[in-house]
Amino acid sequence: MKVCVVGQGGREHAFATTLGRTAEVVVTPGNPGIPASTGTPPTEIDADLYVIGPEGPLADGLADRLRADGRLVFGPGADGAALEGSKAWMKEVVSAAGVPTAAYATFNDEPEQHRAAHAYLETLYPPYVIKTSGLAAGKGVLVTEELAEAHADVDAKLDGTAFGDAGRRIVIEEGLRGPEVSLFALCDGRRAVLLPTAVRDHKRIGDGDTGPNTGGMGCVSPLADVDRAACKELAAMAFEPTLAELTQRGVDYRGVLYAGFMLTPAGPRLLEFNVRFGDPEAQVTLPRIENDLAGLLASAAAGELTDEVVVSDDAMVCVVCAAAGYPVAPRTGDVIEGLQRAREVPGVTVLCAGVAEVDGRASPGGTLVTGGGRVVNVCGRGADVATARDRAYEAVRCISWPGMTYRTDIAAAETLLVAGDR
Ligand code: AMP
Ligand code: GLY
Repeated sequence: MKVCVVGQGGREHAFATTLGRTAEVVVTPGNPGIPASTGTPPTEIDADLYVIGPEGPLADGLADRLRADGRLVFGPGADGAALEGSKAWMKEVVSAAGVPTAAYATFNDEPEQHRAAHAYLETLYPPYVIKTSGLAAGKGVLVTEELAEAHADVDAKLDGTAFGDAGRRIVIEEGLRGPEVSLFALCDGRRAVLLPTAVRDHKRIGDGDTGPNTGGMGCVSPLADVDRAACKELAAMAFEPTLAELTQRGVDYRGVLYAGFMLTPAGPRLLEFNVRFGDPEAQVTLPRIENDLAGLLASAAAGELTDEVVVSDDAMVCVVCAAAGYPVAPRTGDVIEGLQRAREVPGVTVLCAGVAEVDGRASPGGTLVTGGGRVVNVCGRGADVATARDRAYEAVRCISWPGMTYRTDIAAAETLLVAGDR
């Protein structure tokens, strides 16, 4: 089978590596650190299966265009992708499906609604949560203890100054507290089949969850506090009713559903749905799938998912190495050293995300430079989280470039949880 993966980050590199076990893979546009990359657009590539990584092309209807041309596609059409592209619609769908979620209200930029947004905020308790309804590259959510900051954020979003049109509609939510967990399910339009393993991302730039939010600085799976039975309960609470609700609304959802939950003292609450694999969550999940991934995604795309997904008991930890200045203004062009040495650490995979070639050209020694915010993803695998974590950090220490930053506490809490359970 020939598979065309659409996207250019570490998640797509993980797709290419795992799909490559059983299929021929091409990645478009990919990046200079992903061997099978091509500049040919997906519509001009002849493949048996198309796997669309990021939300942007899904929301733009790439899956619809490919399907209209008779191709087999893993990824929802624009209708299903609205689950991520419109948080207001997502909240309506999950509420109708009866999925426990934070109380909320939506507002647009009409003066009366703008005033009502401020009035609604006054009825809430901290933390205050204000989200752009539209896509904002993972940065559209403010969570703050300060009411004044929340009011200012409502203005910045609704005025269009903070996020353009994506912020002219907002969702204000009840602020919840508790650990977070992500789960994935493959959907074939009728069935949602769980990937029975929980993942935890580390979203803030700094150790101890400090500083601004990022696309994700690293993650770990599985989790000591969310075992397989808990995964199944969360799946039954969220995936199955949501897929049924989508079907009832005429949405034939074929792709992955990515659910983010908060485990609150009052029980789990769904925070968000995304319509693609998480990045870097995919990096610690896809390689542990024991089924033939290409066959699995093809059967989901064809509407005939029959197999259960089997995930290895191994643990994986991914540490994201980011460019100087990330997430505000990542610096590009810094020469990356040590990738080969890092790849020689046992149990380690190094995936390329925001990398570029020197002066935009392939250089003789294959030198890569920083070309984006999250530059490389260093993934360690082992029999337990502590081993996976040690391997990942050993490899991270082999890599360097001027201003390289990374968190030193990825999966640290999970290591303690496991130790504490013993
Ligand atoms: P989202 O993109 O909706 O997942 O939001 C991004 C992050 O904001 C989540 O990972 C949480 O850390 C936080 N967040 C979202 N919704 C809430 C909420 N209702 N209460 C507290 N924190 C939230
Ligand atoms: N790592 C978070 C995301 O992919 O949305």
